[in-house]
Amino acid sequence: MAATVIAVYSTKGGVGKTTTAVNLAWQAASEGRSVLLWDLDPQGAATWLLQVKPHLRGGVEALVRGKNAAHKAVRESEFDRIDVLPADESYRDLEIALDAAKKSSSRVTEALRPLRKEYDVIILDTPPGASLVAENALRAADVVVLPLVPSPLGLRSLEQVRSVIKDASSRVTLVAFLSQVDRRKRAHIEALEQLPAAHKEIGDGYVGASVVVERMGEHRAPVGAYAPTSDSAKAFANLWKRVRRAS
Ligand SMILES: Nc1ncnc2c1ncn2[C@@H]1O[C@H](COP(=O)(O)OP(=O)(O)OP(=O)(O)O)[C@@H](O)[C@H]1O
Ligand SMILES: [Mg+2]
Repeated sequence: MAATVIAVYSTKGGVGKTTTAVNLAWQAASEGRSVLLWDLDPQGAATWLLQVKPHLRGGVEALVRGKNAAHKAVRESEFDRIDVLPADESYRDLEIALDAAKKSSSRVTEALRPLRKEYDVIILDTPPGASLVAENALRAADVVVLPLVPSPLGLRSLEQVRSVIKDASSRVTLVAFLSQVDRRKRAHIEALEQLPAAHKEIGDGYVGASVVVERMGEHRAPVGAYAPTSDSAKAFANLWKRVRRAS
């Protein structure tokens, strides 16, 4: 069986993509699945959170052009059944390297080809924006997971992501969810009540704004690893179930 490829993506920055990618990886692994997380963001936050050194043999150039280069760059993380394809500084040139490559929007798909046989789940953490990197991720993915901050600007990203998916002529299933929800705010409560009914891609489950999630950086771990009974861990477990059903 080939792996299911899940891209965590938004046109908007700072909405919780990396947080979601790392926690979905942990939830899938805790069910006994073998997981590869490919950190496609030069910031390397997912690489760092999973305690992997950001070193890529041959840099991004090799990864985009070379045969089996992706395979060689895979590292074990500190967490059971989670491997990481780390980002390093050379990822700043990923956009340029992709642009210079043949079939520039399917390089990620090609790089993943040998890896799909080896994992049950492959998760792509993407940088924000509508870039060639994003187009590559969307083309390679079976499911796109979109964290939405409950605000008018946050909701615009749903429209934008729909349109980027269309432009990439990708056939992915879009799974959106409300993220960083603060139940003390009336606008957030209204968003919870109205948005899932108004948009078929948005589920009822949400991830609340929580200090438990904020502490991922201190622990350098997914929430399930240090706060397994927290509401946040449960929210990511439920999100994983939704994503699994969609794939
Ligand atoms: N549910 C949450 N509760 C509290 N803080 C959160 C939550 N989700 C994310 N954050 C915090 O918000 C910040 C941005 O999250 P994250 O890095 O996951 O976003 P991103 O979309 O990957 O950002 P970028 O676009 O820069 O890649 C981080 O400091 C993270 O700890
Ligand atoms: Mg990120």
